[in-house]
Amino acid sequence: MDTQNAFNETQSSHDRLKELKEFDEGKLGVKGLVDAGIQKIPGIFVRPIEDRLKDFGTYSDDISVPVIDFSHFGENEDRTAEIIKETIMASKEWGFFQVINHGIPKELLELMIERSRMFHEQDAETKKLFYSRDFQSKHVYFFSNHDLYQSKAANWRDTLYVNARLTNGEVDPQELPPIYKDVTLEYVNHIHKLADLILMSISLGLGLEPECLGNMAKCTKSWAIINSYYPACPEPELTIGLDAHVDTSFITLLLQDNIGGLQVLHEKKWVNVEPISGALIVNFGKILQMITNDMIKGICHRVIAKTIGRRISIAINYNGIYSSEKIHGPIKELTSEENPPIYKKFSTEGLIKSFFSKSLDEVGANLDEFKL
Ligand code: OGA
Ligand code: NI
Repeated sequence: MDTQNAFNETQSSHDRLKELKEFDEGKLGVKGLVDAGIQKIPGIFVRPIEDRLKDFGTYSDDISVPVIDFSHFGENEDRTAEIIKETIMASKEWGFFQVINHGIPKELLELMIERSRMFHEQDAETKKLFYSRDFQSKHVYFFSNHDLYQSKAANWRDTLYVNARLTNGEVDPQELPPIYKDVTLEYVNHIHKLADLILMSISLGLGLEPECLGNMAKCTKSWAIINSYYPACPEPELTIGLDAHVDTSFITLLLQDNIGGLQVLHEKKWVNVEPISGALIVNFGKILQMITNDMIKGICHRVIAKTIGRRISIAINYNGIYSSEKIHGPIKELTSEENPPIYKKFSTEGLIKSFFSKSLDEVGANLDEFKL
């Protein structure tokens, strides 16, 4: 690099840091920029050209993630066996599927989306009070881009995070935003039960005891909610809603509104997860992949930015009891001489701390550091 280039490089990283700080100190996230009327996206959101070029020609329009009808699960033997078979196939082939007829009232799903939207669209001064980057100890907080200072380009998304992991699943209702509190507490109870059912159906499909995965995930004690808000973007082709990543979780249950934009990587192509009214999206993360010794894989997904709408999604992650002890390792029954353990034992705390200390594009899908 010649001196002039070196100078420009330093200058631009200096400017970038300044822009990042200004954005962070504004405490209003991406929505704050859109409300201010910007017509061009700020430089901090522009993805490197080589990353954008890599995306060309990688779409697959003619397939979609499996949809599983969960009605009568556990009520009728044949039906239950069928659902288990479908779930295990979808989990192995896709690691991502949608569930319909899961028993959670549609009105509650709609209310949950509405309340999440109301949080993000409330009066700016009130919302600012929730802004924080204290990812290790706060329970309820609002921010934009947990990896703002680490990533190559910021994502076009804001987040309200509710972390019940540090309190064994008990959130203090006083800490929740008032407009969002009651619906959320009701919603999570339903989702915990559904997560347990899905883990049960996978346990059975893998030939394990029905409670095996549920007992490890301890859903009611290990949950966190990620309420995402993706504002309409004036230049969506230059940025992204959420960088490609694999969740850390055992299992994630996601509710999306009707805007769309979520895509999963399937056979090296990005496939849209089409919004289905009343459906919940299920996906698996690195923890499930490691404990099932690669039988079920954590799948890479991302969200593209769009010019239309403002998208709401609500993800609940289950990551197992928050502990620094290495309590998770490959399930014995899933390993054998021909199928030796692939991964070391690990702790949920270790994984989560590592997740929050790196950028999403760096966390990626790679599990090499955990291999034996
Ligand atoms: C996530 C995630 C997808 C979405 O928060 O991990 O993948 O649709 N969200 O917002
Ligand atoms: Ni995700």
